[in-house]
Amino acid sequence: MVTGKGGTGKTSVAAALALGLAAGGRRTLLVEVEGRQGIAQLFGLDPLPYAEKRIAGTTGGGEVRALAVDPEEALLEYLDMFYKLGAAGRALRKVGAIDFATTIAPGLRDVLLTGKVKEATTRAQDGRRVYDAVVLDAPPTGRIGRFLNVTAETARLAKMGPIKTQSEGVSSLLRSPMTAVHVVTLLEEMPVQESLDAIAELTDLHIPVGRIIVNGARPALLTGGKVTKAEVKRGLTAAGLPAATATVSQLTAEAQAHLTRRELEESLRLELAELGRPMIELPQLPGGVDLDGLDDLAARLLHA
Ligand SMILES: Nc1ncnc2c1ncn2[C@@H]1O[C@H](COP(=O)(O)OP(=O)(O)OP(=O)(O)O)[C@@H](O)[C@H]1O
Ligand SMILES: [Mg+2]
Repeated sequence: MVTGKGGTGKTSVAAALALGLAAGGRRTLLVEVEGRQGIAQLFGLDPLPYAEKRIAGTTGGGEVRALAVDPEEALLEYLDMFYKLGAAGRALRKVGAIDFATTIAPGLRDVLLTGKVKEATTRAQDGRRVYDAVVLDAPPTGRIGRFLNVTAETARLAKMGPIKTQSEGVSSLLRSPMTAVHVVTLLEEMPVQESLDAIAELTDLHIPVGRIIVNGARPALLTGGKVTKAEVKRGLTAAGLPAATATVSQLTAEAQAHLTRRELEESLRLELAELGRPMIELPQLPGGVDLDGLDDLAARLLHA
């Protein structure tokens, strides 16, 4: 599972992880559950159907498949599995019963979504797991605890029957060593605070937290705590560049802003490190994340 504050790089990191884990002839499934079609956008594909579709090949004949889970389709599949609804299920959809069911019981929606992830994770064929790993581009930090705490949610909905059984199965898989919730953050105040909160929440729920992934890390261009105009002027002159007063002032202000930002980043990095959890840093890629960028991030995640 990959969570993080909105916009910190969850989808990019999840995709890179799915690629990395598929290297060397393995097969992974990259799943999204928020109906955003973020995976299709990232890979430059048409919107993904509710079906597992190959989206990339890797070394040694490995492959990444992707799935956009739609709660309505998941509910129909689920009803069909337990009650063999068939055409009746399609009729249900027509009368809007599914919208009704998933709106009235938001917890049910999450059981269906995580239930589908569990099904893919544990699916076997010829005595062998179909997927070596399943990577979920999960909801953001603000909602992750609630999303994954399916038993508490469904205990209120179902005291017995298949929904209870299903949610118990999901709950125990989520609390097993097969699961790791990786938390993506930028070195900025809000994402770091949300990461700390989410890690505390997941720990309370006994859901295994994986790595802290610091994304978009920028190299230190300067060291030290302060830059003076005199230094900048000397530097410009040494480089044979004109050192007009306005240029010197502007460059000094920029350099100082960079140092102040570095200081903040350093204190946030320290705050994260104090948790004593494994951390990975991914660099800010110039120009954003394209397919080559994903391979780059995948290699870094894999060799971290
Ligand atoms: N390491 C990186 N270097 C450069 N750009 C990045 C990096 N990681 C992410 N981005 C860019 O930041 C933006 C947000 O990334 P992404 O969509 O993966 O985040 P997200 O957490 O999934 O966002 P949302 O909360 O909207 O789903 C994208 O434009 C992506 O290309
Ligand atoms: Mg996303």
